[in-house]
Amino acid sequence: MHVILILAVQILLVTTFASAVDRGDFARTMNPKRLHMKEKLTHLRVYWHDIISGRNPSAIVIKKHVAKHSFGSITMIDNALTSDVPINSTLVGQAQGFYAGASQHETSFLMAMNFAFKTGKYNGSTITILGRNSIFSEVRKMSVVGGSGIFRFARGYVELRTKWFDQQSGDATVEYNCFLILILVAEIFLLTAIASAGDDFARTMNKKLIDLPKHETLTHLRLYWHDSIGGQNPSTVRIQQPVSNSSLFGSISMTDDALTTDVMKNSTVVGQAQGIYAGAAQGEISLLMVLNFAFKTGKYNGSTITILGRNPVMEKVREMPVVGGSGMFRFARGYVEARTKFVDLKSGVAIVEYNCYVLHY
Ligand SMILES: *[C@@H]1O[C@H](CO)[C@@H](O)[C@H](O)[C@H]1NC(C)=O
Ligand SMILES: *[C@@H]1O[C@H](CO)[C@@H](O)[C@H](O)[C@H]1NC(C)=O
Repeated sequence: MHVILILAVQILLVTTFASAVDRGDFARTMNPKRLHMKEKLTHLRVYWHDIISGRNPSAIVIKKHVAKHSFGSITMIDNALTSDVPINSTLVGQAQGFYAGASQHETSFLMAMNFAFKTGKYNGSTITILGRNSIFSEVRKMSVVGGSGIFRFARGYVELRTKWFDQQSGDATVEYNCFLILILVAEIFLLTAIASAGDDFARTMNKKLIDLPKHETLTHLRLYWHDSIGGQNPSTVRIQQPVSNSSLFGSISMTDDALTTDVMKNSTVVGQAQGIYAGAAQGEISLLMVLNFAFKTGKYNGSTITILGRNPVMEKVREMPVVGGSGMFRFARGYVEARTKFVDLKSGVAIVEYNCYVLHY
């Protein structure tokens, strides 16, 4: 059966599902030709070492479980990724994030982590993984929802197989086969920062220059994120203390920060950055960021973009993927570049410029 797909996003779902015979299916493959994008598939194989025992654990339980099967537990990880099963094989990066017990019927975790690569051409690049891991199944699959650097715009999945598990200590080595689709158009994005229209903080970029399909739009938003963790009305509250004060590893902060059009705090507020950031590195300060930017003005009022990525805060420029959106930004993909403009450790105030490049319909 062939279905003629109409590209307008509003009716995409209707078209797809209305024409499907109801056999209990809830997903179908769509014709990739209509994407008109150059894509390449990449496969990575790494070994993930979850060390919870001993003097230098890479994974630390920061919230104890509340029911059986680890339900309710949160474990923060900064796990080594190596090229082979032995933990002393070549280190290729770190897996930073958390896993949380999310099933009352089996041991199954919600996992949110960034693979931060540290070698060769992948050095500095990340992929972001979000998914469900029922650890006693032979093969588990989770989503790759984004990436940065060489993996910018990555989509894909990972397959996990436990290679070694120590019953006594709980330590484990897991093979991750990562299958990524990379969209090549992304490589030229930065060269074409040319405005064609826009509000104060947002502009549409000339799609002809970047060879975008007709129905996609690239929007550039420049926002200033005002974070205050101290003072009278903190916008961010630490809800879980770190296990290390130098790296902030294990800390969790809930945030509802103003997003403004300029670096001045009293400039126009266009939305709020709402979500969590968590200390997810042991040797540096690097945060796992899980944020929605909720816009409150003009044509973007009510729309959101969702960011999930790694933020090594001491670096000059940090890139994180935009993994989705709603409203005007429905089906969004993209990335943000974060640059700290002002920081005062005493008062706990930081102002960060976010340049967001969002591909949407
Ligand atoms: C890795 O560790 C194993 C066992 O501890 C040892 O036999 C081997 O020589 C080590 N390999 C390297 C490259 O250090
Ligand atoms: C990776 O990049 C960092 C920062 O640019 C650099 O300090 C480091 O030496 C690089 N590592 C390798 C193995 O290339």
